[in-house]
Amino acid sequence: MALLSILKYPDPRLHTVAEPVDEVDEATRCLVGDMAETMYAAPGIGLAATQVDVHKRVIVLDISESKDQLLVLINPEIVASSGQIECEEGCLSVPGIFEKVIRAEEIRVRALDRDGITFDFDASGLLSVCVQHEMDHLEGKVFVDYLSPLKQERIVKKLRKAERLAI
Ligand code: NI
Repeated sequence: MALLSILKYPDPRLHTVAEPVDEVDEATRCLVGDMAETMYAAPGIGLAATQVDVHKRVIVLDISESKDQLLVLINPEIVASSGQIECEEGCLSVPGIFEKVIRAEEIRVRALDRDGITFDFDASGLLSVCVQHEMDHLEGKVFVDYLSPLKQERIVKKLRKAERLAI
């Protein structure tokens, strides 16, 4: 396994729309392993392949405290959704920025697991928000895209400044 580097907003590659995975093979499982390692090391609770510059529909998540409940979603789809929830979100591609976003409160998700088997599950609360956030990445969308242009501009300035300080 290997740690992958995470693209940082406003990198234009974050706006790439990911392609479906045709076959869940060894290369896919290798990507999943590397993404999980990268997410845990960051540390983060979710990572989409888009964020590591691989434009395939693959997501890893773990919202557990114990960090031992890895959820792998390949070619995920939201097949039903209801309600509304507003949550303060952050993103490994937008370090240090937390903003409120409105999402569906409850969703039913269908995806392939790391063995290529289709499964369904219902998610609410944080898991629901997290799945929707990561699925947005696969559509080339970052959570700051939901904010006003003024807020987006401020975030870009703040991140550029932080980058300069880091050098
Ligand atoms: Ni994110």
